[in-house]
Amino acid sequence: MALRLGDEAPNFTAESTEGTINFHEYLGDSWGVLFSHPADFTPVCTTELGAVSRLRDEFSKRNVKVIALSVDGLESHKSWIGDINETQNTAVNFPIIADEDKKVSTLYDMIHPNANESFTVRSVFVIGPDKKIKLTITYPASTGRNFDELLRVIDSLQLTANYSVATPADWKEGEDVVVSPAIKTEDIPAKFPKGHRVIKPYLRMTPQPNK
Ligand code: BEZ
Repeated sequence: MALRLGDEAPNFTAESTEGTINFHEYLGDSWGVLFSHPADFTPVCTTELGAVSRLRDEFSKRNVKVIALSVDGLESHKSWIGDINETQNTAVNFPIIADEDKKVSTLYDMIHPNANESFTVRSVFVIGPDKKIKLTITYPASTGRNFDELLRVIDSLQLTANYSVATPADWKEGEDVVVSPAIKTEDIPAKFPKGHRVIKPYLRMTPQPNK
């Protein structure tokens, strides 16, 4: 069955370019991003893994551990990393799972047979420190992902995990946020002392509370 938001991210043990990994142990108390790519030595995937590698400081700042996956083997991954480093101005700094037996991709429903029978699509799972799935995104093989958007969503997930707020369309770190509908308007000043605007009774804005 497909994994849904709020489900526990299934644990697994798998071989990766950084050795054998037990997923939950690897994540520890961190947030996690597990993302699949269709195949090694392919152009879009090469740019994607380079992009994620160059964003290492951004993921670290947010206490996020990244792990990639494809159904190719370990030797293939290791050889391909040489190409990624050479062409993408980086040094790959996260593990890539070698899922040749498709154990993990099956567990996470990353193979969509009507798109491709044997390769994974571009799945993304964001996992919280409680090991629950907070976000899923699926892209087709032909479209490279926008990893700035992934960081933006992680900012929103981490903010809304700690404050009674939601983030509006196109929100970015530092911009005003929406007060949760669960908060009564008369209770806003005590909870959000930086101020608020009532645009409609159901649409109340406040400055980002942790800035
Ligand atoms: C790519 O990464 O470039 C790619 C992989 C599979 C199908 C199409 C493109």
